[in-house]
Amino acid sequence: MDDDRFRLLVQGVLDYAIFMLDPEGHVMSWNAGAERIKGYAADEIIGRHFSVFYPAEDVAAGKPARELEIAVADGRLEDEGWRLRQDGSRFWANVVITALYDEQGELRGFGKVTRDVTERRAAEAALRESEERFRLLVQSVQDYAIFMLDTGGHIASWNTGAERIKGYAADEIIGRHFSVFYPAEDVAAGKPARELEIAVADGRLEDEGWRLRQDGSRFWANVVITALYDEHGRLHGFGKVTRDMTERRNAEQALRERRRLVGHLVEAQEVERRRIAWDVHDESIQSMVAVGMRLQLLAARLPDPHASAVSGLDESVSAAIARLRGLVSRLRPPELDRHGLVEAVSAYVDDVAGRWGLAHSVRDELTAEPSPEAAITVYRICQEALSNVHRHAQATRIAVRLSTVDNGTLVRITDDGAGTAGGDAGEGHFGLAEMHERAEAAHGWLSVDSTPGEGTVVEFWLPLLPDVPELEP
Ligand SMILES: Nc1ncnc2c1ncn2[C@@H]1O[C@H](COP(=O)(O)OP(=O)(O)O)[C@@H](O)[C@H]1O
Ligand SMILES: [Mg+2]
Repeated sequence: MDDDRFRLLVQGVLDYAIFMLDPEGHVMSWNAGAERIKGYAADEIIGRHFSVFYPAEDVAAGKPARELEIAVADGRLEDEGWRLRQDGSRFWANVVITALYDEQGELRGFGKVTRDVTERRAAEAALRESEERFRLLVQSVQDYAIFMLDTGGHIASWNTGAERIKGYAADEIIGRHFSVFYPAEDVAAGKPARELEIAVADGRLEDEGWRLRQDGSRFWANVVITALYDEHGRLHGFGKVTRDMTERRNAEQALRERRRLVGHLVEAQEVERRRIAWDVHDESIQSMVAVGMRLQLLAARLPDPHASAVSGLDESVSAAIARLRGLVSRLRPPELDRHGLVEAVSAYVDDVAGRWGLAHSVRDELTAEPSPEAAITVYRICQEALSNVHRHAQATRIAVRLSTVDNGTLVRITDDGAGTAGGDAGEGHFGLAEMHERAEAAHGWLSVDSTPGEGTVVEFWLPLLPDVPELEP
């Protein structure tokens, strides 16, 4: 390329200020980029000393002259720093000064290339600041142990939560292998290494299990390990987030145990009721029926007034038999076995609401029959809810709706009474509590929604399958 064309090229460059200084530092040439970046037109700046581009403090410190000296000594100098525009404003400059020699080895001056990198610098500063803020955030998190492992599994960073949960201070643990957190049997089984392998293969691994604190005690941990890659796609290490789930696990176990117990109690209660119902039915009722028949025979043979006295006795016995039959069917509703849940609930509602003088309705929207266990639970909760309406609500009507929702049976019992259910009824009131427990023992839920003056809605749901398997950790 000949000199003229080269000169034209340099002249036209907009992104870089490219110009020459004489050996003393006076500006000898100027290009479009220099005018754009620094603001001076060529005729305003050529011949002036290049120290006008430097802030006063740099000039006072002799920086412009020193930069030329270094360029002479080393052939070249690179610098980043504040420079001035013609209007006095500052920009962050990347500057390269090159010493220029002629064929005789005589210093002819300097070439100077300046870039305005203010935006890049601001972006870098913003990035640094946000990284710093993020680091501080991670550092101060208390509830999670958040730390990094290098590719070999050695701890590379530590936060407050890690110290709180695991007991180690940062300087006690950084550099050590993360297998110290695993119980001996897991280490022997190669679990730590395997977890890193899975994290590499799948990008991420989640695990729950026992981990060790510094003092050797165990805690139940939820662990997520994430493989971290740099911008070239090379494995950079691992991020590890650990939560101490010991309390939650204990609470879950206590709850499971409680449900199991309630479940047993409810079952034992049903068995006992059924046994009593059979006893009453097979023995008491049968023998009273026999007594009744004897009394009738006797009455037929006796003269009055003895005959009418015996007939009176027979009526009393019949009434007692009817009451016992009622008792039997409350203990073990025969419709439940014979005709299914809706029939049993309908018969019960017709019976009691009729007796209590309440308008009533039972709506059947079931599309699947619940299991016998669930049916019993539905029936018992309905019994309890209805007895509450009778005793507390002063309602005029009651509505029961059964439907199949979410693979379960949803039951809604609505009254238009006082609406005073819910809250803490205090000592000796177990009805609502027992309804909740029955529903939960069957792996369902129950809610009571009372609006004073408008009434109460008791709603509960039980899964169709009685035994949803729970994952034992
Ligand atoms: N359907 C209802 N309407 C109005 N109040 C109710 C209703 N159900 C329950 N309650 C109120 O909630 C309290 C607690 O009910 P419960 O736990 O069944 O105990 P108990 O029936 O033995 O009082 C009742 O004492 C009553 O004040
Ligand atoms: Mg009650």
